[in-house]
Amino acid sequence: MQNKKLLNIVGARPQIIKASAISRVLRKDYINSVDEIILHTGQHYDRTLSEVFFEELEIPKPDYNLGVGSARHGKQTASMITGIEEVILKEQPDAVIIYGDTNSTLAAGIAASKLKIPVAHIEAGLRSFRKEMPEEINRLLSDHISTLLFAPTDAALKNLIKEGIRPDASPPFTIDNPKIFLSGDIMYDNSLFFADLAEKKINGFLKKLNAEPGNYILATIHRQKNTDIIERLETILQSLIELSVEHNILLVLPLHPRTVHVLEKENPELLNRLRKASSVKLLPPVTYLEMILLEKNAAIICTDSGGVQKEAHFFRRPCLVLRSETEWIELVKNGTALLVDAEKDRIKEGYINMMNVRGLSYPGFYGNGKAAEFMVEEVMALMLQ
Ligand code: UD1
Ligand code: UDP
Repeated sequence: MQNKKLLNIVGARPQIIKASAISRVLRKDYINSVDEIILHTGQHYDRTLSEVFFEELEIPKPDYNLGVGSARHGKQTASMITGIEEVILKEQPDAVIIYGDTNSTLAAGIAASKLKIPVAHIEAGLRSFRKEMPEEINRLLSDHISTLLFAPTDAALKNLIKEGIRPDASPPFTIDNPKIFLSGDIMYDNSLFFADLAEKKINGFLKKLNAEPGNYILATIHRQKNTDIIERLETILQSLIELSVEHNILLVLPLHPRTVHVLEKENPELLNRLRKASSVKLLPPVTYLEMILLEKNAAIICTDSGGVQKEAHFFRRPCLVLRSETEWIELVKNGTALLVDAEKDRIKEGYINMMNVRGLSYPGFYGNGKAAEFMVEEVMALMLQ
């Protein structure tokens, strides 16, 4: 039998990390039955947001890189759709995999579904219920043009059912008869797979930063709302600096270039303060293994990232979410993540509460660490139906 052709589409940092889990399974178990084609839209292009992950996570080099770069949402998404359409027409894949909620996700979903290629959406059903967030629009639209929807959590599955996707569809699955699965979370697979490797490969990393295990705050900030509204960014950063000084604890801050660019333009004094403060370690984006190591050993994690919130949970660390809502509501219900928005009082009180609370538990909300295996099996069944 001829090999099936699977197009794996990525564009932004978290998608490359997610795709590594699928690619690993394909190379391990399907090498003689599936030809994997990797398409990178080029949404992220800095080495620290893209290439570094291909190398470190040993993902094959993309077969295509569209090099779309940064632009306004419409322009960026449109050039991705144009480029992806051409690749699909040339390659004629049997299915396309898309990840998460970025503009690359949406563009790939639109290009593939219009060409009648079935789409499998990994991380389906997540909702913030705020359409002011570009990712919410990407999620809603991507889910409703997908044929297989892999929901990582109960909450995500319920959201899809509420939106009218039947939970009991039977094959053959199509865009009009989509199938939803409670699949577990592919990021959990990766955390398990890479955690020990991270320790072994880079155990000198924390020392180099003068970061004492269990005694630093790890923070990331990149969400559009937290960077475009400069007052929010200033409040978050000032609160974090104050926390580090008042509690005599190091703040480790690997910053997304988006956030650095905004500070360079809007508040270079604050950026300078971050660079110079002895209680702050300002870093460029770190590699995935470095990030895992930082997460595992942090006292607490403050973030507006989706992936980092979950990783805090995987590594049993309390988390302050620098947003007013989250898609990962089980973390908030469980008390291991606290929504503090961009409000100084809430950030500072949240820190004290989370650092002093005892007996937090970290239940297994995100599957058994074998989500990628399950997903590839179902995608294979789809391609064979
Ligand atoms: C994107 C996703 C977001 C995801 C994040 C992961 C959308 C709408 N947003 O946000 O959901 O959480 O990726 O990190 O798809 N930039 C660089 N170098 C790069 C890429 C970007 O400097 O390699 C800067 C540019 O100034 C650019 C800005 O970051 O304008 C924003 O980049 P963009 O890809 O539009 O969104 P992200 O904030 O990265
Ligand atoms: N990450 C990383 N280096 C960093 C910051 C984040 O490797 O400097 C990883 C992090 O461990 C997680 C993923 O990137 O696996 C999350 O991506 P991001 O925060 O960019 O996007 P989101 O998850 O919010 O879409």
